[in-house]
Amino acid sequence: MVIIRGATTIASDTKEEIQKAVRELLEQIESRNDLKRDEMVSLVFSSTSDIHSHYPAKAAREAGFESCSLFSAQEPDIEGGLPLCIRTMVFVEKNLTPRHVYLRGAKVLRKDIAGKVNIAIDGPAGSGKSTIAKRLAKDYGILYLDTGAMYRACALKALREHVELTDEAQICDLMRSLDLSVQYTDGVQHTILDGGDVSEEIREPQVSMAASTVSKHKSVRLKMVEKQREIASKMSCVLDGRDIGTFVLPEADFKFFLTASPEVRAKRRYDELVAKGHDVDFEELKQGIIARDRQDMNREFAPLKQADDAVLVDTSSMTIEEVVARVKSLMQEKI
Ligand code: DC
Repeated sequence: MVIIRGATTIASDTKEEIQKAVRELLEQIESRNDLKRDEMVSLVFSSTSDIHSHYPAKAAREAGFESCSLFSAQEPDIEGGLPLCIRTMVFVEKNLTPRHVYLRGAKVLRKDIAGKVNIAIDGPAGSGKSTIAKRLAKDYGILYLDTGAMYRACALKALREHVELTDEAQICDLMRSLDLSVQYTDGVQHTILDGGDVSEEIREPQVSMAASTVSKHKSVRLKMVEKQREIASKMSCVLDGRDIGTFVLPEADFKFFLTASPEVRAKRRYDELVAKGHDVDFEELKQGIIARDRQDMNREFAPLKQADDAVLVDTSSMTIEEVVARVKSLMQEKI
């Protein structure tokens, strides 16, 4: 007897959602393990306590899994547990190495079994990308890669070496000797340039526009994108940037494009900088953000753009918690 495990999530507690999710989960278990119906001896389900509308066991029967014994139970409420989740154990009379199946939201939580998950979050400055990306990474226990920090580090290098930012040949030369890496301490990204931690310095306002300017050059982008793809190919991560969904990872599992009005985005940056003790002029900051967006959107190579298959979330009048909840529920709805 072999046991195959599986789990999935539903977007809302309705009979139709439960039927659809259970059918999909069982069909995936069946096909990925090359099973015949009569080899499935018994199906045991548990569902989280927020699911009331239907028995998963009944949904299995309705989906045509009739020859096996079926059982459903409800799980206790566990703090921090994945909501609206259905789990199953399939007892099989066949000698095989089980391929466990984790779908939808459950896929994100069981990356060890489900494989790697890449989440792409793009959008203009101040749209809330990094806040949301950090939260998703923390909640799902995966890596957060701030790709903007990499372009900022390139810009800092150019500023330090007094290289003309718009001079592609000089910047290209500079890139050859670039010593840049990202390291993680307790899940927090540190950007290391020429052996020193520049994580704070790259946040200085003058580095922002410089980063936008150096990131126009194809040679800079290709070098950074290579590093980004390498990281994303090895592990589950949330990446935020401008071109993640369109160019860096067109095959990302989940893609979001966050936006907000220039006014709101400028206010967020203003509050951040003031909290750090910077003396900033709001109007100047807003014009700077608008100019940076324009430059990022209008560059020739891999501009800031919403991928066709990315979900747009306008965060103008949303709190962080609301955006996190929206993004998570969109992830659960997917498939
Ligand atoms: O996200 P940020 O503000 O730290 O990014 C700084 C600049 O870097 C941004 O104005 C454009 C550039 N950038 C980019 O071109 N592509 C990315 N994936 C991330 C940032």
